[in-house]
Amino acid sequence: MKVSESMLRCLFAIIYYSSSYGSTALQLKTIYCTISESCECAFKPDVQGLEWDLYKNLYGQHLAQEIVSEAVVGFLQKDNPDMPLVLSFHGASGTGKTFVTSILGRHLYGAAMSSPYIHQFIPTLHFPLLDRVQEYRSALKRWVEGNLTACARSIFIFDEMERMPPGVIDVLVPFLGPSHVVFQTNYRKAIYIFISTAGQEVINKLALETRQAGKEREDIQLGDLETSLAQAVFHNKNSGFFQSRIISEKLVTCLVPFLPLSRWHVNRCARRELCQRGQCQRRDIVEAVGSSLTYTLENGQFFSNTGCKLVPAKVNLFL
Ligand SMILES: Nc1ncnc2c1ncn2[C@@H]1O[C@H](COP(=O)(O)OP(=O)(O)O)[C@@H](O)[C@H]1O
Ligand SMILES: [Mg+2]
Repeated sequence: MKVSESMLRCLFAIIYYSSSYGSTALQLKTIYCTISESCECAFKPDVQGLEWDLYKNLYGQHLAQEIVSEAVVGFLQKDNPDMPLVLSFHGASGTGKTFVTSILGRHLYGAAMSSPYIHQFIPTLHFPLLDRVQEYRSALKRWVEGNLTACARSIFIFDEMERMPPGVIDVLVPFLGPSHVVFQTNYRKAIYIFISTAGQEVINKLALETRQAGKEREDIQLGDLETSLAQAVFHNKNSGFFQSRIISEKLVTCLVPFLPLSRWHVNRCARRELCQRGQCQRRDIVEAVGSSLTYTLENGQFFSNTGCKLVPAKVNLFL
């Protein structure tokens, strides 16, 4: 006899709510998700909120705004996606890469990074030793499998990929392709986000050339960068994707370039920081913060070396 979805839900609800122990409930939930293949965990996507937040709060990143919005919306429209969503964020420090992941977490799980279904890996913390690659590979595989069995809509974030020992990340290749459904666990509903500074030279160079040519940064298209960025990441020994099949087999849905931020963007970050502290009117501090940072690129003194990263610390200093 084939157990219907509604019977399964009913049965699960009875057992789940009669269980007084959290861990038992979690195990039952895992079993339910495995059998039903429809487990959405606490997934509560708010697509409009996501688009609005990116538009309003992410400064100077028209490519990231467009690419992330379109990719996520397109992915969520499919009940049964044929591949997981794999995004790879690239760009200089302090340009908003980690910031965008927290915006995503907030609008997909309503809980920023504290959701149990959002898993963040930081190589220096989780994969620190170069001679343990095999061990890390097995652990990572088990971890991803286990979490996808518990929640098909899990989000995996790999920050600071440039510090990932080469070889570790390719253990994910089977999960990222189109064909991975094992024992009814659907591996295609997951979202993977890789973050690194790899490829920043390529992005920064184009941003500078665009400015020198008197054009707007918004004139930069993904097509102007995509191939050179993928090559830079693939050939860079310190990208975490060095000679990775994830790149050569084109398993990344979208490469997302983050452009370097100018003084104008830094001032906006400072203004927002001050407003959050109820000090919106302090223009003198906005100017002081902007002046205290270092900017590169010839006499133009244009792009902030640290993006907006040091802004809160500088506001503390001057306030
Ligand atoms: N493009 C941006 N728009 C708005 N705020 C930004 C932007 N880039 C960085 N910030 C601010 O600076 C902080 C640090 O940026 P972060 O996202 O951690 O940089 P990274 O690109 O190195 O991950 C963020 O939490 C955010 O407050
Ligand atoms: Mg970061």
